[in-house]
Amino acid sequence: MKHLISPLDLSVSELKDILDLAGEIIENPKKYANVCQGKKLATLFYEPSTRTRLSFEAAMLNLGGSVLGFSSADSSSASKGESVADTIRVISSYADICAMRHPKEGAPLVASIYSSIPVINAGDGGHNHPTQTLTDLLTIQKLKGRLNNLTVGFCGDLKFGRTVHSLINALVRYDNINFVLISPEELRIPAYLREEVLDTCNVAYKEVKVLEEVMPQLDLLYMTRVQKERFFNEEDYIRLKDSFILDAQKMAYAKEDMLVLHPLPRVNEISTEVDNDPRAVYFKQAEFGVYVRMALIMKLLEVESC
Ligand code: NCD
Repeated sequence: MKHLISPLDLSVSELKDILDLAGEIIENPKKYANVCQGKKLATLFYEPSTRTRLSFEAAMLNLGGSVLGFSSADSSSASKGESVADTIRVISSYADICAMRHPKEGAPLVASIYSSIPVINAGDGGHNHPTQTLTDLLTIQKLKGRLNNLTVGFCGDLKFGRTVHSLINALVRYDNINFVLISPEELRIPAYLREEVLDTCNVAYKEVKVLEEVMPQLDLLYMTRVQKERFFNEEDYIRLKDSFILDAQKMAYAKEDMLVLHPLPRVNEISTEVDNDPRAVYFKQAEFGVYVRMALIMKLLEVESC
């Protein structure tokens, strides 16, 4: 049985299969409307979510399956002190597959050890978010036409942003990828990613503090929210939260075909005036999240289209 805990749990060719299947689902959704009939998805969300949880649920409903779950730790027995290991043992007999989001790094991995159904990591603390990565890769593939030969700027909270960590891990496996890492000093990407991923894989990257300067070089700009919930002290958050604000003036420095991605939710880091720029694709990106999760559920449940 296969789980999806880290983006590296999928080989490049398995990733391609999922992206291809998502593409087919977009073309012909009716063909997939009943392939998961009788199957149940459990969404175990110990942390807030809008897109990830609802796109998982929409994905399973679109496939003809059903969903059950909880959307906060307070409404689950975690509030009584139950361990993730015990919870998943029980859920394994209620559902066929589960998506888990948890504030603690590694919680979905622990769950996968005790589970008898596939476990999908829907975000674990500041660590990984592999299904957002699938969403991002589908967006890049569809709207840019390639996953290689790209200069990708990541901007904002690169320290705590799990979507950034997962996407970097996934992209280093494609040819000729350059990273421009734009953040304040305190929010630089973690050392383990720099040393064990970027340096080890010999990936070209630079770290900068000013967005405008690097805008003209970028093929993609991945904006992120400063992750308030991961800060130990509110003063630091307040000082750093508006470090970068993408607006129409900054967009004027960008290539005509540069795409702006954001996993959402957006707070202040992208001015709403950018929303009408055809290069702003973050709402389209959120839409792609449903199709790629449909494809993932089908692959993990080993369901074929009829
Ligand atoms: C992201 C997350 O939860 O890490 N949101 C999402 O799943 N689309 C990004 C964020 O919360 O900033």
